Amino acid sequence: MSERSAAQATTAAPAGRERALAALERARRRTAALTDCLDEAGLTAQHSRLMSPLAWDLAHVGNQEDIWLLREAGGTGGVRPDLDAVYDAFRTPRADRPALPMLPPDAARAYIAEVRARALEVLAAGPPDGADSALFEGDFVFGMVAQHEQQHDETMLATHQLRRGPAVLDAPDPSAPTSRATDDRHGEVHVPAGPFTMGTSAEPWALDNERPAHTVDVPAFDLDAVPVTNGAYQRFIEDGGYRDERWWHPEGWAYVQKAELSAPLFWRRDGEMWLRRRFGYIERVPPGEPVMHVSWYEADAYARWAGRRLPTEAEWEKAARHDPRTGESRRYPWGDAEPDEGRANLGQRHLRPAPAGAYPAGAAPCGARQLIGDVWEWTSSDFTGYPGFRAFPYREYSEVFFGSDHKVLRGGSFGTDAVACRGTFRNWDLPVRRQIFAGFRTARSSGGGN
Ligand SMILES: [Fe+2]
Repeated sequence: MSERSAAQATTAAPAGRERALAALERARRRTAALTDCLDEAGLTAQHSRLMSPLAWDLAHVGNQEDIWLLREAGGTGGVRPDLDAVYDAFRTPRADRPALPMLPPDAARAYIAEVRARALEVLAAGPPDGADSALFEGDFVFGMVAQHEQQHDETMLATHQLRRGPAVLDAPDPSAPTSRATDDRHGEVHVPAGPFTMGTSAEPWALDNERPAHTVDVPAFDLDAVPVTNGAYQRFIEDGGYRDERWWHPEGWAYVQKAELSAPLFWRRDGEMWLRRRFGYIERVPPGEPVMHVSWYEADAYARWAGRRLPTEAEWEKAARHDPRTGESRRYPWGDAEPDEGRANLGQRHLRPAPAGAYPAGAAPCGARQLIGDVWEWTSSDFTGYPGFRAFPYREYSEVFFGSDHKVLRGGSFGTDAVACRGTFRNWDLPVRRQIFAGFRTARSSGGGN
């Protein structure tokens, strides 16, 4: 049992600089699309206390690039070190960022363009004398910066979803549902007991928390073949799920009472119908689509109501990557090839998840679908470091979040770019969070019990 090396994965990715350049440019086009559609007032307003003003994200991605590509990797003095304090995410919580002396949007655009022009010179020139060679291995630092910008783009997309006012984003819907996708019961898949390789030491742009590859023995389990749908979730609501303490984690129960929750975020009842707000439009909740905008507590309560539980992070990754024929772990459920439009709903090509049962070409060896893309999936696991974890290149990327406060999410959403999504990729958030594009699927231990 092993992990295929990136070199063996011939269909994997264009090498180094070309891939880095493409990833940086794609991220910047998306950042522009998410910010050019609003006027200055829309960019500097705070649309939710959970989020930064979009103008902050806009300059923050350039400031991180200034720090990591121009100064740390490039060995230059950077463009605007004086802005570091304003755009330091650890210094000022999101709720307080509107009070910061932020660059106005046009100045932010000019700043990030200047940083980018110089960053491309660093990329073309290669490591300067005395550079930290680990940053340049596989062009990691450029991949890290591209992923960082794409992560903020997804955060900005969530800000758009929270924003009130007329719709400004547009995208075609995913392909028409298959006949199966109109039914919200898809059954489960079986994953036999045994060890598999979790995490990675071979993927050049994997972040520190995905490393190193290590063996984990996972008992047999059954997993929902597709994410839990809106239709299935409605049955939990209609069965009084939000009013029945039996299903809830004690902290979840307290939270539901205090916040008076009775449905996913952005849903409201209209007579017999459930409606939702989605990027400025009001529409009927589609029963066949994966449920999203539920907290970990809601996902956990639904699973208990269904007589099941959330999968552990190891179970999720084994279902997504383990190939029982070879004993190896794949980069993605379908193999080692990069995601494309036929295999996963990623990259904001659509502004919603595809119906459950979509993307048969993206299925894992175990038969589970849509593990990558559509909605992030809550797991039961706390966010911790793997055995042998080493913070790189800075502790604040992930190590400072380790512990029992944060739960792991896997698989990416329709708003996640492919560069920031793979079988090993780990996201984390507080169990009360609902503004992220997160849903879940449920599991049960095979051979009795949960
Ligand atoms: Fe950031």
